[in-house]
Amino acid sequence: MTFDNLLVETREGLAIVTVNRPDKLNALNDKTVGELDAAFQALGSDDSVRGVILTGAGEKAFVAGADIAELSTQSPIDGKDRSVRGQHVLDRIEGLGKPVIAAVNGFALGGGCELALACHVRVASENAKLGTPEVKLGIMCGYAGTQRLPRLVGRGRALEMLLTGEMVDAQEAWRIGLVNKVVPREALLRESEALLRKMMANGPLSLRFTLEAVAAGLEVPFDEAQLFEATLFGLICTSEDMKEGTKAFLEKRPAKFQGK
Ligand code: COA
Repeated sequence: MTFDNLLVETREGLAIVTVNRPDKLNALNDKTVGELDAAFQALGSDDSVRGVILTGAGEKAFVAGADIAELSTQSPIDGKDRSVRGQHVLDRIEGLGKPVIAAVNGFALGGGCELALACHVRVASENAKLGTPEVKLGIMCGYAGTQRLPRLVGRGRALEMLLTGEMVDAQEAWRIGLVNKVVPREALLRESEALLRKMMANGPLSLRFTLEAVAAGLEVPFDEAQLFEATLFGLICTSEDMKEGTKAFLEKRPAKFQGK
């Protein structure tokens, strides 16, 4: 896969997607959003890819937001379309069916923070800064930040961030549960890869159904969520992976999962 504003590299089942506009702190212009959509569509349907790391190019930024130059001239119709398009791309990432880790290597602001929120887990470097400064520009979150942020860190903390537009540093992001761990800058990709490979060692269907159960279950009443979980549990009992995983345990050997 080749793109103008993204780098996509795959090795041993793990893909690294790098937003690559470092001179603009990897700001998401419309082209980049379209490329992210195409890249994740391809990665989602490629069975050889079992996990993805998303990061930003350069030393300073993960993604410093939507491209303000494009936002500055938008009509109401453009604005709504842009918001809906971005939401769909982030939904595609969240619904990929395989784990996606955001390796937050610097500023993750506005749409960049929302992009990190759509990933399943966030690992931050010590220099990372996250925030939703849209209100400082006279706009507001448009890539579901008003929805994912309170679900992740709680309504009060989310509203503080959303209404002040102030950034939090990596340690504070960790304290409030916005990122899962903080690591030295030079260790970011290594630590993200190590975490992702731990996940990828497990049954691919187990990961996929777990992601589905959590994502769908949190949005419906508890009883319905439990029923959905039980249904997925029943479905996974039909899988080769279940036979292999349980058999491997009993035979005291590592399992070889096929995702079938
Ligand atoms: N959209 C478009 N361009 C952006 C951008 C964005 N969201 N964020 C940074 N850039 C561009 C700058 O305009 C600058 O371009 P130039 O060199 O052609 O002038 C370049 O990236 C470097 O940014 P700069 O502001 O010079 O870096 P800095 O270290 O002084 O400040 C930030 C870093 C992140 C604090 C600052 O760039 C910033 O506040 N960016 C906007 C963040 C934001 O509001 N995001 C939400 C958008 S909805």
